[in-house]
Amino acid sequence: MNVVTTIADMRTLAESHRKKGRTIGFVPTMGFLHEGHLSLMREARKSCDIVVVSIFVNPTQFGPGEDFDRYPRDEKGDREKCEAEGIDVLFIPSAAEMYPPGDSVSVPVEGIADILEGASRPGHFRGVATVVARLFTIVGPHKAFFGQKDFQQTVVIERMATGLNMDVKIVVLPTVREQDGLAMSSRNSYLRADERRAAASLYRALSEGEGLIRSGVGAASKLKRAMRAVLEKEAGIEIDYLEIVDPESLVSLREIEHRAVLLVAARIGRTRLIDNVLIL
Ligand code: PAF
Repeated sequence: MNVVTTIADMRTLAESHRKKGRTIGFVPTMGFLHEGHLSLMREARKSCDIVVVSIFVNPTQFGPGEDFDRYPRDEKGDREKCEAEGIDVLFIPSAAEMYPPGDSVSVPVEGIADILEGASRPGHFRGVATVVARLFTIVGPHKAFFGQKDFQQTVVIERMATGLNMDVKIVVLPTVREQDGLAMSSRNSYLRADERRAAASLYRALSEGEGLIRSGVGAASKLKRAMRAVLEKEAGIEIDYLEIVDPESLVSLREIEHRAVLLVAARIGRTRLIDNVLIL
């Protein structure tokens, strides 16, 4: 595995693979890798000649008072996991190079980046779109892989890539879950044992909503009430939002007729978690 830490070296290496006609699959991450990330790497491995993984805890997507400083980091463990997955290139850029002094360029995605997560975390998606655009420009991937757990992020990145005419296919893969349904996330490591148990109720609430939709309930108000009731049974969960939206526009739905995504964001102690299920 090539471990690359400068933008120039990453560019040169990617360019040499492209010149040889090899396809590049890219998995951008913030590290502290778990099975969710590994599932993206395995899918990239299946369909691309070269798999590049990046690890960069991107400061611009964290708001003031958020968890940037305590975000879990384990570079040694991450390197071992990437080696074990047969990753070709691990790119670990520095913040100084990704955001040089005097840098004044960012990538806002209007509208969909300002609702839901964007409303709770102002500026978050501007940071995500900016770093992903920069990483795409450096790596030049044919395909990039993201987890459905960050559903709104995948929509923002799709819009950003389409809007900037980037020649990259965005591949979104299903959320990987723990046995009790909790979506895998690096932030789960913050949870105390009692919080960890309570956290499983996010997926229980989403499953309750999904079950009701499958049994013919279409009124979003009724579905949200039922989902809220599941979360409220659990002490210590503070709901940030519970929404049912159209998967493309992210516009809130009153009646579920075809496709929909059920989204939840909640705070458990000091940890903020998000999850969703897609109804096709
Ligand atoms: O999903 C993440 O881990 C991050 O938001 C991403 C896409 C790597 C950008 O920093």
